[in-house]
Parts: sequence; C-alpha cells; structure tokens
Amino acid sequence: MSALPWYEDVSPDRGTLPPRAWYARSDAPALSLNGDWAFRLSPTAGAEDESFAAADFDASGWGTVAVPGHWVLQGKEFGGPAYTNVLYPFPVDPPRVPAENPTGDHLRRFDLPADWPAEGGAVLRLDGVESCARVWLNGTELGDFKGSRLAHEFAVGHLLEARDNVLALRVHQWSSGSYLEDQDQWWLPGVFRDVTLLHRPEGAPGDFFVHASYDHVPGTGGLRVDCDVPGRVRVPELGLDLATGESATVPVEPWSAEVPRLYEGELTAGGERIPLRIGFRSVYVEDGVLKANGRRILFRGVNRHEFHPERGRALDLATMREDVELMKRHNINAVRTSHYPPHPAFLDLCDTYGLWVIDEGDLETHGFEELAWRGNPVDDARWTPALLDRAARLVERDKNHPSVVLWSLGNECGTGAGLTAMAEWIRDRDPSRLVHYEGDRSCADTDVYSRMYPSHAEVEEIGRRADEGPEARRRLPFVLCEYAHAMGNGPGGLAAYQRLFERYERCQGGFVWEWIDHGLVHPVHGHGYGGDFGEELHDGNFVCDGLLFPDRTPSPGLVEYKKVIEPVRIAPGEEPGTVAVTNGHDVSDLAHLAFTWSFLADGEVLAEGPFEVPALAAGQSARVDLPEPPASPAGTEAVWTVRAVLAHDTAWAPAGHEVAWGQIPATTAPAPRLRALTGARPAPAADRTTLGPGVFDARTGEPLTLGALPVTGLRLDVWRAPTDNDEGAPWQPDVRYGPLWRELGLHRMRHRTDGVSTAGDTLTVRSRVAPAARDFGLGVTYRWTSDGTALRLDVEVVPEGGWPVPLPRLGVRLGLPAALDRVVWYGGGPGEAYPDTRAAARLGRWESTVAGLQTPYVRPQENGARIDTRWLELSDGSAGVRIGGEPAFWFTARRWTTEQLDAAAHRPDLVPGDTLWLNLDHAQHGIGSQSCGPGVLPGHRLDAAPAAFSLAFTPLG
Ligand code: GAL
Repeated sequence: MSALPWYEDVSPDRGTLPPRAWYARSDAPALSLNGDWAFRLSPTAGAEDESFAAADFDASGWGTVAVPGHWVLQGKEFGGPAYTNVLYPFPVDPPRVPAENPTGDHLRRFDLPADWPAEGGAVLRLDGVESCARVWLNGTELGDFKGSRLAHEFAVGHLLEARDNVLALRVHQWSSGSYLEDQDQWWLPGVFRDVTLLHRPEGAPGDFFVHASYDHVPGTGGLRVDCDVPGRVRVPELGLDLATGESATVPVEPWSAEVPRLYEGELTAGGERIPLRIGFRSVYVEDGVLKANGRRILFRGVNRHEFHPERGRALDLATMREDVELMKRHNINAVRTSHYPPHPAFLDLCDTYGLWVIDEGDLETHGFEELAWRGNPVDDARWTPALLDRAARLVERDKNHPSVVLWSLGNECGTGAGLTAMAEWIRDRDPSRLVHYEGDRSCADTDVYSRMYPSHAEVEEIGRRADEGPEARRRLPFVLCEYAHAMGNGPGGLAAYQRLFERYERCQGGFVWEWIDHGLVHPVHGHGYGGDFGEELHDGNFVCDGLLFPDRTPSPGLVEYKKVIEPVRIAPGEEPGTVAVTNGHDVSDLAHLAFTWSFLADGEVLAEGPFEVPALAAGQSARVDLPEPPASPAGTEAVWTVRAVLAHDTAWAPAGHEVAWGQIPATTAPAPRLRALTGARPAPAADRTTLGPGVFDARTGEPLTLGALPVTGLRLDVWRAPTDNDEGAPWQPDVRYGPLWRELGLHRMRHRTDGVSTAGDTLTVRSRVAPAARDFGLGVTYRWTSDGTALRLDVEVVPEGGWPVPLPRLGVRLGLPAALDRVVWYGGGPGEAYPDTRAAARLGRWESTVAGLQTPYVRPQENGARIDTRWLELSDGSAGVRIGGEPAFWFTARRWTTEQLDAAAHRPDLVPGDTLWLNLDHAQHGIGSQSCGPGVLPGHRLDAAPAAFSLAFTPLG
C-alpha cells in the first residue's frame, strides 16, 4: 500500500506529536486561529498542486469559510451534506477512495500577539478535521493525519514569525480513515473544531495523568499526578502539596453524577501552571454489578451525537452547555458519546454538572456488514496501527475527566483482533476504568455486557442471569448502550424497561437512542433529512431520531423519559390518605428537594401547601401522611398532586424546578361523567331530521349542524398517519403494522350506511366500515339522543370477519369550523400521550390553541393525542362546543386531515385549512420502538374487539 497517496494510506499520521491530555487553559499563552479562512474547493484530490501552501501564495481570488465549520454547510457552491446510516457512499475498496474526492484548501494568515513570549516552543492543535488534513506552516510541511474527531498537534515553534504567518491545510472529504468512520450521521467534511496555537514554555510538560481514586470504606481519596517532567501538585482545599509522581491519601467527598464534587488544584511543571479539576471516584465491577464509589449506579442515559441544525458538528460552547443543562433538567445522568469523542469542552461540562460518560472511540465499520464483514478493517492487521492510534488519542486526550467511567472501543465494527488490541492497550494504559464495546457478543474484550434494542422479555431474562451464552458473560453487569429508538412519535415502552432496571440489580440502565434529531436547516423543507440535499444514496429521515427536535425543543419523548427516570417515586400509599415516597437516587438523600401538595377537584386546584418528607437516604422509602383533604364539591373527581422540586438553585436549574411528581386519587367512587339525555325526540322533516340542538341528514343520519356550528363528516375512524415506529425497520423480526395496515387498506376504509331509523327518543344509524378487497370489517351503530340542549352519541362497534391486524385507532372523527381555536380540557396533559408513552400525562385542566396541540415531528406523522379526557371545550372565544365522554377519551385536533398528514414529508407541506378535524378516540394502538427496536408490547395492542363508548356534545355561547 506504500505507493498510495497519504490520504489513502492506512497509516494514521505523519509528523504529529504524541497524543496527550487536553486542557482548556494554563498560564501559557494561546492564540485561537478560529475565524474566517480563505477557502478553495476542488472536485478531486489532485486537481490543484501544492503551491497554495507557499508563504507568498496569493489567495485573494478564493472564497471564505468559517472555522470551525463544514464547507458543505457554507453555501451551495461548496457542495452539500449527505446522509447514510450503514452504507458507505462510495465503492468499498479499502483503503482506496473515489477519484471524486472533494478537497478543501484552507489558508489562514496570522500575526503573533505582541506579548507572545520569545522563549519556548509552540504547538499547533487541531481538535477535529473531517476526514484528514495535510498541514503546512509558512511553506514548510508539518505532516498529515486522519481521525476526524481526534485532536492532533504539531510542533511549530521553530517556524513561527512575529508577523504574517501562513497556515495551510489541505482537507479531503474521503480518506482511508473514512472506512473507520461509518457512523450513522451526515458526512460533513471540514475543519469543524478549533484550531489553536499554544505556547509551550521551555521544559513544559508533554503530558500528565491525574490519578484520583476513592475508597468508600474509609472515605478517602488517593491522588497521584504523573507527569513527564518533574513538578508540584497543589490542592489547597485538601492541604496537599505533592511532587509529581508522589501519592497521598486524604479524606474527601467523592465525585458522582449526582454530586459532582471537584477540587480545584494546580500542576506546576517546567514553567507552566495548569489548573486541575480533580474528582475522586472509583468505578469497578463487583459481584457482577457495576459500582461507583461503593454503590450500584443506574444509567439514565442518552446517546449524544454532536449536532447543530445549521452548523452540523461544529458546536459552540453555549450549545454544549445547553445540551448538558437540558439533560440535567430532564433527570438524565449519563451520556454515551456516540460514536466518537466529543469536543473536549463537553467533557469539562460533564465533570462540572455531573454526568457519567461512556467515552467512545471514533470508530465504526458498519458498512462491511453489508458485505458479510469481508475486508473489515478491525479484522485486518494492516489497520491495527490506525486502530491503536484511535484508542490512544481517545484515552490520552480525555483521561483526566472524572466523568468518564467507561472507554468504548467504537460502535458496530463486528469483531476482530484489532479490537482486542485496542482493549489491551487501553487496559494497560488506564486500568482505573472499564472497557465497553457492544458489537462482540462474546464480551471477550469488555467489562460489561452491552446490547442495543433487545426486547423487554430478553432484558428480563438477562436481568435474571438466565440468558444463554458464555458463562463468563453471565457474570457481567448489563447495560443497554442503545434502546428506545426516539424516531418520530415515541419511543414507546420506556416505563416497562425502567421497571426492569429497577427490579434486576444486573440491569444498570441504558442510553436512549438518541439525543437530538439531525435535521439540517433547509430552504424549502424547514429541516431537511437524507435525500433532501440531492444524495445518490441516503437513508431518509432515519437521521431524525432524537429526544430533541433539531432546534433543541424537547419532544414529548424527552418529557416522557424525564418522568420515567425520575429519581424519586411518589405513589399512592397502601392506606388511603398516604403517599409512598421512594428515593431512587444512587447517592443523594432528599434534602436538596422541597415537596409540595395540591388538591384538585375536577382539575381545579382547591388548596395547596408544603409537604414534609423526611430526608430519606438513597434507596429508602417512607409512607407519608397527606393533610386532611379540603371539602370538594359533591360529584367532583378529587386528586392529590405531590411534587418534588429543587429546594435551591443549582448550576442547571433554579429553585422550584420540578424533578418528580405523582398523583394520588382522592375520590373512591367517581360519579358517572355522562348522564342519559332524554326528553327531546327526533323530528323528521323532508331531508333533515332535527334532534335537540342537532340537525341530521335524514338519508345518511350524519349530523349537519350542532346548534349554530356546521359539522362535517362525522364517522368512525380507524386510521392514523403511521408513525416511524408504526412503519418499523426492515431488519426488525416483528410484523411491521404500518405497511401492513396500508396493504390491507385501513387508510381507505369504505362506509356503507345500512339503516337510519328513529324510534322513541333515539335516532339510530347502522353502518359497516371496511376496506375494499377484504372480507373483514366493523359493524357500527350510532345512537343519538338529546335533552333539548345537548346531544348524546352512543357508539357500538362489532368486528366482523377475521381481523389480521390490530387497529391504529378506534373512535369518531368530525369536521368543525376552524375558528374554534381555543381548546380547554380536563384530562391528561399538557402534552401528547399514547398507550405506552403516557407516563408524563397528568390529570388536570389544560388549555392550548389548536396549533399548540401539534407536535412538529420533522417527518409529519400521527401526533398530538391528549389522553384520559373527561371533557373538552373548543371555542372561538364566544361560541363553541363542549364534549364529554364515557369512558374518558383521547382527542386530537388539527387543521388538516389524517390523509394530508400521512401524505406530508416535511412540516411545511402541512397547510391549515378551514376545517378543524377532530378525532375523539376510544382507544389507540401503542407506539413501541420498532423503527429500530421491538414493537408494541402485547398490553398496548389495539386488537379489533367489540367496543362501546359514549360522547355528549353541548353547543356553547
Ligand atoms: C444503531 C447504531 C446507531 C444508530 C441506531 C439507529 O444500530 O449504533 O448509530 O444507527 O442504530 O438509529
């Protein structure tokens, strides 16, 4: 392979300095070279010669790009982004890459600041360049490197001038390194992380390693800082003043994600002072359980890619901080840095705010799976130096972060000796942490058994240590490095997973896939996904599968996750008038929380006050008495809401921020919500029949007006615009209902009216609802009654024939004037909920506009249902309708039809019309996680079965 150009050669780098610990600041000066760079794009790697790197090259005719940045996101003339999940977007012929290899030449001129020291050396640090770079300073070539999300440094002191230095970078989109970087994400070439010139005082450290351990038995921390030059380590708060290499043991408070205790210190060596932030902690496996500081920990985690909708993976500090604060505010305590080391500043934030981190190597060769793993680089010794370089650059850069507790070799690389070599190198260099890799079921190289997307049943089996497989693996702790695929509406089934994690000691939680939708800002589509940028191969909206929308608004999935993983459980106590409170923290007692109670009658708060809960230690439970309930009006439904909020401001949320809540019913026998409506009689006249406030088409029995409101198209509805989880992933073994529903015609049900009759005070309409070409259907009877002011509708549904699939939904839909924009309801809220995504819906009185009820999934799909609705009012401010239900119902209101929602590919395709389409559902099918993981659990299937439900409509105003 030696004849290949450097970017196709498998060797990782030439001319770089050995990897070392990354730190943000020291007293040695630094010069950021971020900013506008001159830029020239060529379509192939060899289109231009190297004369641009000469010190006197005139780049005045070039364009400009921002560094950090990806050139494909900085103007159409610079190409576009491309998304593939598994497939390499070029012929697989490792280590060769296509001749069409977009090449970005970058130039930056700079002067040294006036106070730049004359003595000493200097280092040029590049924190991230995709996919490789060749580097020159003042016309002298420094070397080249691959490894996009890894830091690379060059010694440059001997080349620096006081003025008019020229730094030149040649960056190719494709290199041999691209074969190692087949992560499921956008391909985004460019200098996307910082470029910095660092002064190095004479004799300054090359590297240092902070070893800070914790022994929970005596409660002491051990500290030793190794450094390649002699120096001193001071930690004033601990009274420590040590030589480098010297150990000390002192009483300390340990670092954990819950209590991220850091001690400020300082390393002085070779004329440099480097601030240290020391967190003492231990992490190990004991008796098959993963522990930190002597206690089992439970990961409430997410997988985080670096993503910004305009800047791709070029993240600024504010965005990183926003991610961390959002995580903390949503009870998340762990991050897997899928699938590469993040910008190092992110790890500083994890240290400060408290998040357990699985730090992952920049490595994925998933595209070889398509080829039955033929030629997989992790199983080919020629690539081992490149793999070891990636392992070393991961560990050396990030080793001083207390938040990092596991090193992950990479993601989805199959198996091979190269991985073993990486694991061995890592264990030798840093025995204080554990090693993670998911792709090898033998777990030969790992300290934890890790899986992605197993079913609940399999997790339970693993939890019982009853899983098949190697005996040694059964003794390992179990984590889900990925589960609950948050693509579109969902993920469903989170609460059921959490119960398993809380029940089985071995199940130590998981990391939801994934943190944020990678929707890129698009001039037409709002947020674009695969295929929206003219790619030849792409994987559509599979790149939008996060708990945050691209603009970082939390999706309902994140709100649900926050509730499911809340670290305090508040549930009805065994005796009436009591609450069972359980402290589910790993470490903290409850002293940092304040509790409150409120008492609601039919959703109205009647009284509220502080609630005294003992400062239970982690893992403890207590029964706490509620106060005497206030008197509530007869016939109302009463409920207690108990909330746990932050007692004091924290770094990530102010005092009063809600951490956990629970509701406790206070009415033993709720009164029926709908009464029989009698008195008025149907009055047939010509082609209309009047009944109370309703006028019906005498022939079809359909309501035409309700009081002053026109009504259109009231009928049984079973269709929903399939969610990504309904559509499912082709590799999933379970039946994919979305495609099957469509194949069977559930999106084009036919309605046959079999009879309209009046008898006594009832108008009865009988119909049959079924798809063309099939012999199964639903017999439906609508019975209308009235007391003169309101209309009651009793619906009875009887399945006919053999229904081979569950129903998407079951209810009625109707059209009302779009002016009815104000929505008030008593039921579950404030956000959307489905049968297996309903943990966060709390009973209350809520209000919204119709627009506010919509969830803006990047690819439009079923959304916005509100659960457990007792009643609902829609109005334009003066007139409207009140709708009650028995049993409680779900409602969805939108200014487009389900068919329009189904047809839309992007948000801007949905244009509000002049009808408000209202679905009043008796039931919904669950959501599940089948867009990558398991489908809907049996208990959340909506099987076709006889059903009866009632609604009452009262015109308002
Ligand atoms: C996993 C993979 C992730 C992502 C996810 C699906 O197999 O590790 O990178 O592709 O599936 O969104």
